[in-house]
Amino acid sequence: MAERLAQPRRLLVTGGAGFIGSNFVHRHLARYPGTHVVVLDALTYAGRRENLEGVSAGALTFVHGDIRDAKAVAAAMAGCDAVINFAAESHVDRSIEQPGEFIQTDVYGVFVLCEEARRVGVKRFIQVSTDEVYGEVLEGHSTEDSPLMPRSPYAASKAGGDRLAYAYFATFGLPVVVTRCSNNYGPRQYPEKLISLFVTNAIDDQPLPVYGDGKNRRDWIDVDDHCAALDLLLTHPGIEGGTFNIGAQHELDVLTITDTILGLLGKPRTLIRHVEDRPGHDRRYAVDSSRLTRLTGWRPEIPFETGIRRTVEWYRQNEAWWRPIKQGEFRTYYERMYGQRKVLKEVRA
Ligand code: NAD
Ligand code: TYD
Repeated sequence: MAERLAQPRRLLVTGGAGFIGSNFVHRHLARYPGTHVVVLDALTYAGRRENLEGVSAGALTFVHGDIRDAKAVAAAMAGCDAVINFAAESHVDRSIEQPGEFIQTDVYGVFVLCEEARRVGVKRFIQVSTDEVYGEVLEGHSTEDSPLMPRSPYAASKAGGDRLAYAYFATFGLPVVVTRCSNNYGPRQYPEKLISLFVTNAIDDQPLPVYGDGKNRRDWIDVDDHCAALDLLLTHPGIEGGTFNIGAQHELDVLTITDTILGLLGKPRTLIRHVEDRPGHDRRYAVDSSRLTRLTGWRPEIPFETGIRRTVEWYRQNEAWWRPIKQGEFRTYYERMYGQRKVLKEVRA
């Protein structure tokens, strides 16, 4: 087998001030102190400079800029030997309200990054895609060869970026690797997503808005397990042009997650409100990640019970992180998104 690629000496992490990107940067620098990380992040509502606090200052260059801006991208990518692109608009509900930003960042932004990566001649370009590109999968598991049938503007824009990056491999030989991970949970997730929203609402005895019947299923993976897979793919040889699913094989529906959170926090089920469903709400996603395991030996290592406990504890211990967020932009978003939503059912004690 060919030798692993050398660890990048200078690694561009776009979207590194967001949830997964910041977890990746912390983990990567703890394991590979010889790497210098450049974070390029536009600091949208979801990106926070403080997500990178604690990273050794000498190991990190932070560039406040947009992946759609060719000049900012060129400045950030200068001297980098690898790129990992986390930057995206990432929330399905916002993509239903305002799809335009998703197309701009998740498709056009990938184009700008690929163009510059080609010019610079990076050794590896990881495009962080998502299992949502397969669309809903009512039975079985999506393999990397399953058709892409995205059903939300978020998923469709990610599918565009995913295949555009591949096209830069097929056409120009850019050493692209595409990953499609399932639903992540963990520290520093903007409190608009299911787990971060419900944990922080429950701490405050606020209602938990379950869409529809609460039976929609996702495969839930600890963010650390996702980042471990990305680290392996960064240096695994001979996988250019490859696509890899990343999943934990731990499917749960929304109500089960909700009950787990309430149980861990000692809060009553009466906080649950079944509300009007999300339009086009995908019933289930499930990926088969055996290609990744076969090739790299990667397996998810954090059982859901451990990961969710650690995550709930993190939000309990870090109110100083999420309280200001919930008072700011989030507040108007939440009122707009949930204020008018019909309550279908309340849960009695
Ligand atoms: P996030 O919304 O928490 O973070 C996104 C980051 O990208 C933020 O720091 C934001 O400021 C930055 N950003 C947004 N637009 C930008 C632009 N135009 N230029 C530069 N920076 C920009 O998202 P996340 O949950 O950390 O997801 C990271 C990536 O992983 C995304 O590409 C997402 O599609 C993918 N993904 C997420 C999940 C999940 O469960 N969260 C699962 C699979 C894949
Ligand atoms: P979310 O975290 O938005 O991720 P996804 O991109 O998979 O939709 O939602 C996860 C699941 O939780 C999905 O089935 C929608 C559901 N959900 C609710 O029921 N209520 C909520 O307030 C949110 C944010 C999500």
